[in-house]
Amino acid sequence: MNIDVRIKRTDPVSGETQWQTFEYDALGKPSVAKILEEINLREQLTDKDGKAARRISWECSCLQGVCGACAMVIDGRPALACETFVDPSAQSEVSIEPLRKFHVVADLVVDRSVIDKTLLESEVYIKDYNESSPDEFAHRYQASKCLKCGLCLEVCPNWTGTGKFAGALFANDCYLVDSADSSTEIRDEFGKHFAAGCSKSLSCMKVCPMKIETIASIAKMNRRKKR
Ligand code: FES
Repeated sequence: MNIDVRIKRTDPVSGETQWQTFEYDALGKPSVAKILEEINLREQLTDKDGKAARRISWECSCLQGVCGACAMVIDGRPALACETFVDPSAQSEVSIEPLRKFHVVADLVVDRSVIDKTLLESEVYIKDYNESSPDEFAHRYQASKCLKCGLCLEVCPNWTGTGKFAGALFANDCYLVDSADSSTEIRDEFGKHFAAGCSKSLSCMKVCPMKIETIASIAKMNRRKKR
């Protein structure tokens, strides 16, 4: 069945933006990643109007919902392209655009280096773990699954990419580091870059592909901060 694939294109040289539509003959319920891959593999790439088109720039790695590279906005919602499936019997069009809060490098590729920069500057990375209870271990394991895909930042009403507030992935990494090395520095960083800026909308938890319960990380950090 044919579907229209609308893609927000950004020229990597001029920075000009436009929507371009491609026709795609879908078999079954393909993932958005598969659709992008197959469109790019066409010998001659032309859009729906028959105009020659540039290959679509997008990122992927694992294609199993693990690495976070393929985070983008699909039909208006932030999601992983490899984990989002299109049902041609239910929709005749799919729209795909890059994450909106990050600098667009080209088409669906965005610069997410701000994520690493914040974590590095705050020294939010893990050294050695302390002994812990089974409950603590379970949450630590869950928090460690963070892909750094940026979907939580995309939906967060408080994160802008320019202020001090560093978002849910920062809170989870603070928790992980604190459970390894409970120094006051990491709690100070949590206070400066997270605690004061979170309005607890918890939209981050709804969109997280790894289902990380950031609220549990926040609660554990707040409890420790008081000690
Ligand atoms: S390609 Fe790794 S999460 Fe989609």
